[in-house]
Amino acid sequence: MSQTMIDVRNLTAAYGSLTALNGVNLTVAKGEIFGLLGPNGAGKTTLLANVEGLHKPKQGEVHVGGISVQTDAAAAKRQLGIQLQKTALLDDLTVAELVEVYAALYEVYLTSKEIDALLARFDLVEKRNTLARRLSGGQQQRLALAVAIANDPQIVLLDEPTSALDPHARRAVWDVIRQLHDEGRTIVLTTHSMEEAEALCGRIAIIDRGQIVACDTPSALIANLQLNSMLKATVELPLEQVRTLPEVSNARYTGQHLEVETARPEVTLTALHELAARSGRSIRDVMLRQPNLEDVFLKLTGHALAESN
Ligand SMILES: Nc1ncnc2c1ncn2[C@@H]1O[C@H](COP(=O)(O)OP(=O)(O)O)[C@@H](O)[C@H]1O
Ligand SMILES: [Mg+2]
Repeated sequence: MSQTMIDVRNLTAAYGSLTALNGVNLTVAKGEIFGLLGPNGAGKTTLLANVEGLHKPKQGEVHVGGISVQTDAAAAKRQLGIQLQKTALLDDLTVAELVEVYAALYEVYLTSKEIDALLARFDLVEKRNTLARRLSGGQQQRLALAVAIANDPQIVLLDEPTSALDPHARRAVWDVIRQLHDEGRTIVLTTHSMEEAEALCGRIAIIDRGQIVACDTPSALIANLQLNSMLKATVELPLEQVRTLPEVSNARYTGQHLEVETARPEVTLTALHELAARSGRSIRDVMLRQPNLEDVFLKLTGHALAESN
């Protein structure tokens, strides 16, 4: 059994009368990349804030590296590198100054050489004398990661490390996260992106309305629900009619794509063609895809993970 780095027990957290987390249990083992996947407002940031000791729970307990956050917050926190969701970097400092200042907050005093070595790992050496506020979004996120590990922590907590980044910058941040993992660090990240969770995380907790509704490897989450294949097509048809077609267990629209869950795709496709013909509609771009985490989320919670859907 590998070492438990984070242990959250029966955690309930509130803001006034609003319950943000309700009886959350969670353990993260050494060397994992663990993802908290859920929509906005699910409680991801609150959960991290309780692990970090920044928010006091109403009930329950959190241990970090075996140390209770409730009884010894300072010692628990020394093991953590933290990237907050809203990175309030002091943006009138240069990149190098920022890294120096943040490390010093943890009583780690870096030489200029050590700062350069750290920046090199995040592809920021050329920016060492640039003001933080002049960096691109992707560079700022990489700087936030550099700052998060300036104290050389065993555990790194990343709150939406790639939200609002373009695909290229996002991939660069993913590479950095994988690097931190390859060094043996334990990573916990939050995301509302299924792709990100699937690309990075060995295990995922699906969180919705303050509760963890499932926790497992991505493939086990998908396999355990025994979801059917998804038939995808571009066509405009009323959902209530599509749902009555043979073998269909569910149907929805994502953008203008119709997605139909079916036990027998060939039977459903024939019926779909007939329905479209009767309605004077044409069907384009038919494809079959395997179920993914988005489908798991929908099945478990009854609503979609991505708000745009
Ligand atoms: N400082 C706060 N004061 C009051 N309510 C808050 C505060 N922070 C978060 N909440 C509420 O708690 C719930 C969980 O929020 P949060 O943990 O930020 O979710 P997530 O990070 O998954 O988007 C939401 O309903 C949110 O509106
Ligand atoms: Mg959040």
